[in-house]
Amino acid sequence: MNTIKNQNDLEQKITDLYLRHQKQRASMEWNFYGYMPWDKGQSFSTLPYDKSQNTLPQELIIAIETSMLTELNLPWYTTFLNNMFIDNLEPLQNFVHTWVSEEDQHASALETYLILTRNADPKELTKVKKEILTTGWDSILSEPLSSMVYTSLQELGTVVFYKNIAKYAQQYDPDLSTLLLRIAKDESSHYAFYNQIVDAHLELNPDLITYVWPVIKNFKMPGGSLSDFDDRMKIIQKAGYGPEEYVNQVLEVLIRRWKISKLNPITSEGKEAQKNILQYLEKIKRINARLKNR
Ligand SMILES: [Fe+2]
Ligand SMILES: [Fe+2]
Repeated sequence: MNTIKNQNDLEQKITDLYLRHQKQRASMEWNFYGYMPWDKGQSFSTLPYDKSQNTLPQELIIAIETSMLTELNLPWYTTFLNNMFIDNLEPLQNFVHTWVSEEDQHASALETYLILTRNADPKELTKVKKEILTTGWDSILSEPLSSMVYTSLQELGTVVFYKNIAKYAQQYDPDLSTLLLRIAKDESSHYAFYNQIVDAHLELNPDLITYVWPVIKNFKMPGGSLSDFDDRMKIIQKAGYGPEEYVNQVLEVLIRRWKISKLNPITSEGKEAQKNILQYLEKIKRINARLKNR
């Protein structure tokens, strides 16, 4: 049964989703200090850092470091989303404010963990952080709906990333696994907010699928701005997140969630976008299966 029949229904739905998110976050309040293995810390003055002190395998260190460096660019993501929703509904603008307060802990938690457990060189990490923030981040997206299609994919990608890496980390450090699962909970609630708004738009007007296809076609995680991102992702595959997980656990899940194959767009552009999305999914699933069987 259709619940979104007009613009008023859509606006009411977005307001309701924001209120639900506010209520949920109040019960999800957490503080990363409670998740740090402080007892493992030692002074860097008496015992300077050396790579031989690493306690985690390389693929896990790179996974944690890459997500930390990605989360770190928060000021630039905030700038983008704030500008994007500036003339839009108030709940969307408010969501960016609550979202930024939730995302803020993630990079801090991961950085503290890496330094405390001596899985990163503190001086080197500080240097890289400065480089990343100086480079910044921007997007070619210019429409609020396209941006929410992007953030739906990105937030779900992040949920799956943290959950899969948490599973892999369990054998090396259960504390790390617990921390990653806690971060994944925040990302899940961001994903829920964005994907339900996109769903409501598609319910109101299936031809808005024309906004979905270009985002899917060009999707790259925000960490893609790191110069060695592709090399990093190749290594991270071993820890549980790669192209196969993206397709099966992110892209396909969203295509099903938005009932893309069942939508009835009226315009030829809408029909074309629907066909392209479904063909694209099949094509990359075939490519991944071929690569796996090599
Ligand atoms: Fe995050
Ligand atoms: Fe998030």
